[in-house]
Amino acid sequence: MGPFMQHGQHRRTLPRHVAIIMDGNGRWAKRRGLDRIEGHKRGADSVRAVVRAAREMGLQALTLYAFSSQNWERPVEEVRRLMELLRDYLISERDEILQNNIRLSTVGAQDRLPQFVRDPLDALMADAAKNNGITLCLALSYGGREAIVEAAQNFAQAVLQGELRLQDVNELAFSEALSTHVLPPLDLVIRTSGEERLSNFLLWEAAYAELYFTDTLWPDFGRVELGEALSVYASRERRFGQTSEQVRLRAAK
Ligand code: IPE
Ligand code: IPE
Ligand code: MG
Repeated sequence: MGPFMQHGQHRRTLPRHVAIIMDGNGRWAKRRGLDRIEGHKRGADSVRAVVRAAREMGLQALTLYAFSSQNWERPVEEVRRLMELLRDYLISERDEILQNNIRLSTVGAQDRLPQFVRDPLDALMADAAKNNGITLCLALSYGGREAIVEAAQNFAQAVLQGELRLQDVNELAFSEALSTHVLPPLDLVIRTSGEERLSNFLLWEAAYAELYFTDTLWPDFGRVELGEALSVYASRERRFGQTSEQVRLRAAK
């Protein structure tokens, strides 16, 4: 019996889809008297470790908030260095992704990314398309509100053009219109660095996700810390509006 299984229960104790707000790179560097970018570099090492651990622990999908729509407002030099690190990551992790059957996807406004990121990204997504192991989803130039507005605009247009009836714009159709619909339902959101907010991440998808906050800064977050988050998740009772008794009865069936 593994640490995430409970005997005699069908309760799903291992999350299918985990999303991480990788925060605290700047503070990690500042505490050491280093440039912020050094924190981002160490953050990329954490990404490697966590992707590997997530795959080995058996998660179905891992979404990483790498760059928000709002992060474009940072100093141009920092934005440029972040984009270069992203490119370097896509190049250096290519073999790891292809050899380990990892599927790669993205959410966000990819058209805003510089060409030197889009080229290795598109190439790797295409080459990893046949893979059927864990899905690594990178949130790049992503904003939850922007994603919802985009879906709403597409629906409005379809209704205006008579292709869709207003009553067909329901919750299921809306979920399916978001680019995250290819991933399993979001079970757990992790945020590092002690901040306790969503910062425009997966607003729709997180409606019933469990939230886990840790003071650990992202460059210090690795396999062990992911394991801790999964243990806490396993101890939570997800009630989805029902009573505890109902949930227990359902799990016992
Ligand atoms: C997260 O670390 C990385 C990105 C948002 C790209 P930060 O850069 O936000 O680090 P802090 O919050 O300043 O410490
Ligand atoms: C959220 O972190 C975005 C990413 C981790 C990519 P921020 O550091 O940008 O969030 P705020 O500005 O503190 O809310
Ligand atoms: Mg931050």
